Amino acid sequence: MTDQKKGRAQFSSKFGLIAAAAGSAIGLGNIWKFPYITGVYGGAAFLFVYLGFILAIGLPVMLSELIIGRKSRRNAFGAFKKLTPGTPWMFIGSFGVAAAFLILSFYGVVAGWSIKYIIFSVTNHFQYCSPEQISKVFGSFIADPLDPLLYQVIFMLMTGAIVIIGVQKGIERYSKVLMPILLIIIIILDIRAVTLKGAGEGLRFLFHPDFSKLSFEGVLSALGHAFFSLSLGMGTLITYGSYVNKNDNLINTAIQVTTADTIIAILAGIAIFPAVFAFHIEPGHGVGLIFITLPNVFMQMPGGYLFSIMFFILLTIAALTSAISILEVVVAYFTEELKIKRQISTVLATALITLLGIICSLSMGLFSEFEVFGLNFFDLLDFISANLLLPIGGMFIALFIGWAFGKYKVIREVAHGGKLKGWFLQIFMLLVKFVAPIAIFIVFLQGLNILDIIVALFSGNH
Ligand code: TRP
Repeated sequence: MTDQKKGRAQFSSKFGLIAAAAGSAIGLGNIWKFPYITGVYGGAAFLFVYLGFILAIGLPVMLSELIIGRKSRRNAFGAFKKLTPGTPWMFIGSFGVAAAFLILSFYGVVAGWSIKYIIFSVTNHFQYCSPEQISKVFGSFIADPLDPLLYQVIFMLMTGAIVIIGVQKGIERYSKVLMPILLIIIIILDIRAVTLKGAGEGLRFLFHPDFSKLSFEGVLSALGHAFFSLSLGMGTLITYGSYVNKNDNLINTAIQVTTADTIIAILAGIAIFPAVFAFHIEPGHGVGLIFITLPNVFMQMPGGYLFSIMFFILLTIAALTSAISILEVVVAYFTEELKIKRQISTVLATALITLLGIICSLSMGLFSEFEVFGLNFFDLLDFISANLLLPIGGMFIALFIGWAFGKYKVIREVAHGGKLKGWFLQIFMLLVKFVAPIAIFIVFLQGLNILDIIVALFSGNH
């Protein structure tokens, strides 16, 4: 990335953007959250619906965010103010900043668990443990009022420090080399997992769909996770797009990042579910699924001791490159809109998010009694941010590109870096104008039981 006259950094190469965007997309969402919610919502049917959302909604929204960022050269909030001054569109940016706050608070907690697992791996803590014992160790660790906070705070300090150092050094350098290594380790885990006794049942669970078992709530979660996993709906990629060179091809970037993200999630699923069934773990176990499953696999693997250490180090780094991109949304907003100095913005944002995260962490133990709509604080923040704020943000981003920005500006902005084929433009405009917004709206109505609630309200009035 080189500094330009206007003082705005730019990615120095095309690979810089792809690496940074993939670094943002690939993280705990793929390796922790995807297997855990796929397990909760019953497996293959959830996976297929998720893949459908990635294609029909995720990909077009990703391209939209990159277009908005590159055209405006602003953060998620300022972008809309610049492109359509004096209109309410900039509220999309406010949603994004709110979502970033909530997501990073619980994200930091889970990343902290990953750090703790580096230590568990180094000390060979799970040696000779049965699957039940591993599950107990994990359960009492996350419910502890102090231990998980320590690791969460360490993780948040690392995130804040990298954001202070700056976009280039922080993001570009690390993700290029390390993510391919993570990929290799996951593939090795896959090979071990599918050769375990009883692996077939896990593969069937992951790939053989039974749509009758999928609830509307599951469909809503699949939608929310498509946004979460691709880092969409809150302006992360608007902010990254604002650093992109005018000559880069945004379509290829969007396709490559989406493909890489989806492949990693599926490979993580292939590492987890065969093992889940082989070790008789409940697939719908919840937030701890990978943490109670993977130690069993590492123990049954030649070199498992080292692989386990490497895996959790790389998982933590993958989480870090994602966390940086979430924090960057808040920091860019503080610096560019509220005119607070970058260092102070970063310290402030990191501190506030860490505090909220502490409450999330405590909701696993001390505060577990406190529930809203049957969800503890951790799950509540996850639900509000991933299943509500991101899809709403994504819906408005699609509407913005489809209706306010329009076809001609899209052609001009996208064709900078390559030709735009007619059919591609038609499909893209159709998706952002109608398909994505309407689909998101319908999933909302069904997933949140809004129709039922309205009917109940009206019938109650009679
Ligand atoms: N996509 C990341 C993951 O899968 C998390 C993330 C980073 C994110 N930036 C985001 C999620 C922006 C939503 C919005 O782990």
